[in-house]
Amino acid sequence: MRVVEAFRAAYGAAPQTVWRAPGRVNLIGEHTDYNDGFVLPFAVPWGVTAAITPRTDDTIRLLSLQAPGEPVTIAGHDQSAGWTRYVVGVFAMLGDRVRGADVAIDGDVPPGAGLSSSAALEVAVASALNDLHGLGMTPMEIALLSQKAENDFVGMPCGILDQAASALCEEGHALFLDCRSLGSRNIPLDLAAHGLSMLIIDTQVHHQHADGEYAKRRAECESAARKLGVPALRDVTDLAAALDRLQGDERKRTMHVVTENHRVEALIGLLRAGAVSEIGALLNASHLSLRDQYEVSSPELDVAVEAAIKGGARGARMTGGGFGGSAIALVPVDRLSSVEESVTGAYAEHGFQAPRFLPATPARGAHRLA
Ligand code: GLA
Repeated sequence: MRVVEAFRAAYGAAPQTVWRAPGRVNLIGEHTDYNDGFVLPFAVPWGVTAAITPRTDDTIRLLSLQAPGEPVTIAGHDQSAGWTRYVVGVFAMLGDRVRGADVAIDGDVPPGAGLSSSAALEVAVASALNDLHGLGMTPMEIALLSQKAENDFVGMPCGILDQAASALCEEGHALFLDCRSLGSRNIPLDLAAHGLSMLIIDTQVHHQHADGEYAKRRAECESAARKLGVPALRDVTDLAAALDRLQGDERKRTMHVVTENHRVEALIGLLRAGAVSEIGALLNASHLSLRDQYEVSSPELDVAVEAAIKGGARGARMTGGGFGGSAIALVPVDRLSSVEESVTGAYAEHGFQAPRFLPATPARGAHRLA
C-alpha cells in the first residue's frame, strides 16, 4: 500500500493502523439534513486512506500523497490552513482523549467533484484514532464528531449527510438516515440486477459563492421554521397552510424541503417494491425543486441533467450542496454511451469545459485496512 510506504519513508517505521473512508453521492434528500429530514446517500468507490501512529507529545505531523513535500508539523490545534484543517479539526474535537500523532494521507476522490472528500478525510482520521485509542465510538458518533470538526473548526455549517454516509454506508446499499433521530437503515440498491447504472457527471465546476449561499439557505430554513412555530421544517405537515404564512425565498425553501422529504420516502417505497427503474421520475422532480425552489443548481448542472435525460437516462438530478460539483443519472446500461454523448455534445454547444463521467457503484463505508 503506497500510503504505508510513504509513512515509513517519512517517519521511519510502519503505521500502527490504516483506515479508509469513502466519499458519497446522495441519491435523494438534498438540503434536508439540517432541517431534521431524511437523506439517502450511498458511498462511492473513491475515498481517503489514513495511516496513523500516535505520539507521546501533542505534535501532529501530517503528510499527504496529494500534496508532495515534507510532512507539515502542527503544534497545538490552531495553526492549520487548507486541507490540514480537516485533520487537525478532528484532533481538536477529540480534545484530551488523544495526544498528537504521525499521519499519512492518500486520497482518490476526484477533487472538486462534490463527492465529499473532506468528510472522507475527517471520518478516516477519526475512525483510526478511535481504533488506536480504544475510544469505543460508534460509527454514528464518529460521523457526529467529524461533522463538529467541520462546523466548529473548519467553519462550514454542514449537516450530517456526508459524514454519516462515509461512516455508515454498506457495499451494495444506500443509507436511509433520519437526521433527527439519527436512526438509519441500509437499503439494498442492486442497480445492475435491473440493467441499470448510476452515472456520475462531474461538471468540474465549483462556484466560489457556494459556501456563502449554503449558510444563507440554512438560515432561511431556520427563519421559516421559527415563523411557522415548528422546531424544524421537517415538522411541517400541512404544506399549503405553511406556504400561506410565508413569503418570498422562505416560502420557496420550505416548498423544497417539505416535498423533498416526501420524495425520499416515496423513493424508498419504490425500492422496497423492487421498482428500481421507476425512481427516475423522483430524481427529476428533485432536480426541478432544487433548481427552481431552492435555487442551488447551476447552468452546468441543468444542462447535464437535461442532456442525460435526452440521451436516454431514466432520471437525473444534481447531487450534494449544488453550485457545481456533480449530477447523477440513472441510466439503462445499454444507453450509457448515448447519455455520455448527449451530455458531451450539449456541453460543447454551451461552451462548457468537458464533463467527466464516473460510474458509481454503492461502496463500503469506513473500515480498517491494516
Ligand atoms: C453539503 C453538506 C451536507 C448537505 C448537502 C445538501 O454536501 O455538507 O450536509 O447539506 O450539502 O444536501
